[in-house]
Amino acid sequence: MKNTKDLVMEALLKNSDKYISGESLSDEIGVSRASVWKGINSLKKEGYVIESKSGSGYKLIKSVEDSGFSTYEFIHSLNTKYLAQNILFFQTIDSTNTYANKIAEKSEEGTVVLANEQTNGKGRTGKKWISAENVGVYFSMILKPEIPLSKASFLTQIAGASLCLALNNNNIPAKIKWPNDIIVGGKKISGILTEMNAEIDRINFIVVGIGINLYKTSFDELSNVATSIENEGFEIEREKLLKDFFEIFERLYSEFKKNSIVETRKTLRDYSAVLGKEIYLINNGEKEKVFAENIDENGNLIVRDQMGIIRTVFSGEISIRGLNGYI
Ligand code: BTN
Repeated sequence: MKNTKDLVMEALLKNSDKYISGESLSDEIGVSRASVWKGINSLKKEGYVIESKSGSGYKLIKSVEDSGFSTYEFIHSLNTKYLAQNILFFQTIDSTNTYANKIAEKSEEGTVVLANEQTNGKGRTGKKWISAENVGVYFSMILKPEIPLSKASFLTQIAGASLCLALNNNNIPAKIKWPNDIIVGGKKISGILTEMNAEIDRINFIVVGIGINLYKTSFDELSNVATSIENEGFEIEREKLLKDFFEIFERLYSEFKKNSIVETRKTLRDYSAVLGKEIYLINNGEKEKVFAENIDENGNLIVRDQMGIIRTVFSGEISIRGLNGYI
């Protein structure tokens, strides 16, 4: 349930083009004028600039939090039913995935943990995810789908497809390197870490964590594999990318829960960086050259091996490399 402060903020945002009287605020929200006044004061203490003019009322002048991210404004602009309707924003945190895992049991589906910096960002296979301040955006979504355990890894595919669509809709030519890297200019700009908490036959919750490198930065020894959107000569506002991503993800995820994956699968195919190419499967240091044929209905990669045999490669099972470099 929303508290008075949140409700006051929402009403101020809705009326941000004009002054609104304390009385109208109290009518709109359904609380006393004294509560409205308290709400206004708490918001001011948090750094919001709210002008009050006698005879006219209140007006929100600046709703910018620490890092320039305003949760209120963002949620107000977002056209989703449940995804990211509750956002916990941190200027800095150890890892949004770690935090999301901690609060997931008691959180509603669609809750998002978002940070401007991570001091212990987690990558796949125990690697670190470099998460410096003002370089990228780092977030985790708490999801509680009623699906069989075997379908859980498809959430990574939905996240990849959604991000790829969001980027391409903003004229950033992103591709998906199966199973969970997003590529721009032939190098990785984003990674996805999906973690699951489950019983033997039932999912309690899933945390899908995404890190996106947005701004100009140097990747030092990783510079042949990692890059950022800005390093590749493109630009997008953090809020715009998040908004587009959450709206697309909610659509594809809701379809998936209703057993439809048509759009996700088409996106995975249309924007694949590996399909139709010769790639190496790398398993325990052993390289095997195969041809990437297709993505199946569970998001697994279908390959043709040197003997001409068609095989299914399960996500997370192996690494893949193209014959000429990272992709
Ligand atoms: C990868 O190895 O490619 C996956 C990287 C996932 C990084 C994101 S950043 C937000 C979320 N919190 C984490 O600690 N990791 C994920």
